[in-house]
Amino acid sequence: MPVTLVIGAQWGDEGKGRIVDFLSRGAHVVARYGGGSNAGHTVRVGDKTYKLRIVPSGVVAGVDHCVIGPGTVVAPGQLVAELDTLEFNGVDTSRVWVSDLAHLILPYHVELDKSAERERGEDALGTTGNGIGPAYVDRVARTGIRAGELLDMHRARQALFARTHAVRAQGIAIDLDAVAAELEQQAARIVPHIRDTVSLIHDELQAGHRVIAEGAQGSLLDVNFGTYPYVTSSVTVAGGALSGLGFGPKHVDYVIGVVKAYQTRVGGGPFPTELADKQGDELRERGAEFGVVTGRPRRCGWLDLVALRYAVQINGITHLAITKVDVLDTLYQICVCTAYEDVGKGSLPFAIARGAKPVYDSMPGWLKTTVAARSWEDLPFNAREYLKFIEAYVGVPIAYVSVGPERNQIIVRQDAPIGSTARVR
Ligand code: IMP
Repeated sequence: MPVTLVIGAQWGDEGKGRIVDFLSRGAHVVARYGGGSNAGHTVRVGDKTYKLRIVPSGVVAGVDHCVIGPGTVVAPGQLVAELDTLEFNGVDTSRVWVSDLAHLILPYHVELDKSAERERGEDALGTTGNGIGPAYVDRVARTGIRAGELLDMHRARQALFARTHAVRAQGIAIDLDAVAAELEQQAARIVPHIRDTVSLIHDELQAGHRVIAEGAQGSLLDVNFGTYPYVTSSVTVAGGALSGLGFGPKHVDYVIGVVKAYQTRVGGGPFPTELADKQGDELRERGAEFGVVTGRPRRCGWLDLVALRYAVQINGITHLAITKVDVLDTLYQICVCTAYEDVGKGSLPFAIARGAKPVYDSMPGWLKTTVAARSWEDLPFNAREYLKFIEAYVGVPIAYVSVGPERNQIIVRQDAPIGSTARVR
C-alpha cells in the first residue's frame, strides 16, 4: 500500500491531528515530515485530550511506527517531556522513531528566535518562540547538529563546542557546558528512539503497508509558497513530505487537504478575510480558537476560497477533509471569499501582501445543530449546499466532514479514499 499525505490547506490549525488520528486506523506508519514543536496537534478520545507537538498523531491510535522524519527539527527536552506525558497517559511510545538525520533545536536556537523577534519590533512575525527558524538556518548553513550525533556524545559535544564562538558572536550568552550536560541527559532517554527511518519507511512500503505523512502548519505558512516573511521556516506543502521523509512521488496515492470551514491565523501577517469584529469573536469563542502551543487567541475570518484553490494547486490535493463545520451552526448568513479586488499581477502571496480585498458570496446558514450528523444525508440542506459550493469552486471532492472533536464525529463520504475501519486495533 502506498503513502497518503495529510496536509494543512490554510494557515495551520486546520485539525490535521484529528484527521490523521482517524485515518491512522487504516495505516501502519504515521510520519511527520517537517516543522518541530511549533505544531500543536490535538487528538481527543472520549474524555481524554492529547496535545501532540512533535510526536506524530498516529501514536494515540497505536500504529506500528511513528516516525519523526529527516525534515523535522527536534527539541530534545521537549521530546522527552512529550514522551513522558504520553506514557503517563497510558500511550505506548516504544515505537516512536526519530530520524538520525533530523536536526536538533538547541537552547541557543530558542534564544536566537526570541532575540530576532525583539529586533523586528512592530514587524515581529509572531513566531511560536520555539527556535524553529534558527534551527533551519543552521541546517542550510551546514552548521546544525543532527539527532544521529547523539549516538556518540563525544562527537555531539565537539559539534556543540564548535558552535560556541558563532553563537556568542550573535549576542547570545550561553553556558555551553551546561547545555552539553543537559543534552547528555536528554540523549540517554532519546537514543533508543533514534534510527534510520528512511529504511524503515521503505521496508514498510515494500511490505505493502500504508504510510501516512502528517503535515504540520499549513500551506500558507510554507517557506516558499506562503505569505512570506510571515511564514514558518519549513516546507509545509505536499512536496515537503517527499524531501522530508525520503521517498519518491510514485509512492503517493492521495493528498488530503485539511481545511477549516472558516479561516484562522495565529501570529502576524496579512489575512484578507479577517473579521476584526463581533462576528470574528463569535467564531473564536464557538471554535475555541486559542493556540495549542502558545495559548494566543487566533485571528478568525471567513473561508478564503481563492487561497484554498491555490493550496489545491501547490499541493496537488486530491480530496478535502473539512473540519469544524459545527462552529457555523448558529450563523444566519455565511460568507465565502471567491475573488480578490484589483490584485494586479503576480502570485497569490504578493496579492495578499498588497492588501487584497476580498469579494464575498454569501449564503444562508442552516441554524441547526450538526454535531449529531453521522452521514452526508444527516447534514442540513444548507450545510450540504455550503460544502458543495466549496467543492465546485476548488474542483476537488470533500471526502471527510468533521462536526465535532470526537472520533465518531467524522462523516466519511462514499468515495473517500480511506475508510475508518480498515485496521482498527
Ligand atoms: P515559527 O514556526 O515558530 O517560526 O512561527 C512562524 C509563524 O508560523 C508564526 O506566525 C506562527 O504563529 C506560525 N505557526 C507556526 N506553527 C504553527 C501552527 O502549528 N499553527 C499555526 N500557526 C503556526
